[in-house]
Amino acid sequence: MSAVIIDGKAVAASIREEVARDCAALRDQGLSAPGLSVVLVGDNEASALYVRNKGRAAERAGIAFQLLQQPSDLTSADVLRLVGDLNDDASVDAILVQLPLPPQVDSRAVIEAVSPAKDADGFHPLNFGRLAEGSPGVVTPCTPQGCMELVRRYDVPIAGRRAVVVGRSTIVGRPLAAMLTNADATVTVCHSRTPDLAGVCREADILVAATGRPGMIDERFVKPGACVIDVGTTPTPDGVRGDVDRVSVEPVAGWLTPVPGGVGPMTIAMLLRNTVALAALRRRAPVSA
Ligand code: GUN
Repeated sequence: MSAVIIDGKAVAASIREEVARDCAALRDQGLSAPGLSVVLVGDNEASALYVRNKGRAAERAGIAFQLLQQPSDLTSADVLRLVGDLNDDASVDAILVQLPLPPQVDSRAVIEAVSPAKDADGFHPLNFGRLAEGSPGVVTPCTPQGCMELVRRYDVPIAGRRAVVVGRSTIVGRPLAAMLTNADATVTVCHSRTPDLAGVCREADILVAATGRPGMIDERFVKPGACVIDVGTTPTPDGVRGDVDRVSVEPVAGWLTPVPGGVGPMTIAMLLRNTVALAALRRRAPVSA
């Protein structure tokens, strides 16, 4: 047996087309294009690349994209003022503050300062709380939303199955555990203090690796036939690497997301979908997402 390789690039392309159609539909109703503003503080190379890719994809879909590139010595007060201005700007539908922020900036305060109605990331505690309650609002965090979309589009059974999420970050692990719970999976969240990690992972029908440790998930962690979702994107001299050792896992798993070309492209597609959903709500217009 060899795993079905989940084509995140193709799924993301079809979602970007859906978003472009939604933007065109708003235009046809005489409504303005959705507006996405991204705040990038400092000169982290990986962040700059992600943000460039987000901007390109947004503009191609018909979203008005604005990048606010800021120096690395900004204070928390400076960033909070910037976010406050974007909250008050009627032309802005969605705000994303690229993480990580420099250490002198209070990330928690910044995330909480973004209006929940303009929260492109779904990181605000109000949106996060709604997801945790089982009644998500208009937006949910992009990377876990992308993982769920891939699992659903490949008809991987979720309800009643065992899901194991390795990693408990607020960006991926925690919201994904909530999404899988809401989809009626039985969910275990693992982390660096979990004993017998391989044994716990081997119980999973759906295994999600979000550790940032390249290649750590090998065939000893995988139940035959399981769906393995690799969220890792660690830059190495040989290119970007996932958390899953594809060579040993592919013959065992039922489905596998590759790196690159799996979850990565989905994150941007979901950001565009969140942006259009927020814009449609602010214009009281229906969208397909
Ligand atoms: N940095 C890495 N992933 C993300 C994300 O999904 N949103 C934001 N704002 N920053 C990130």
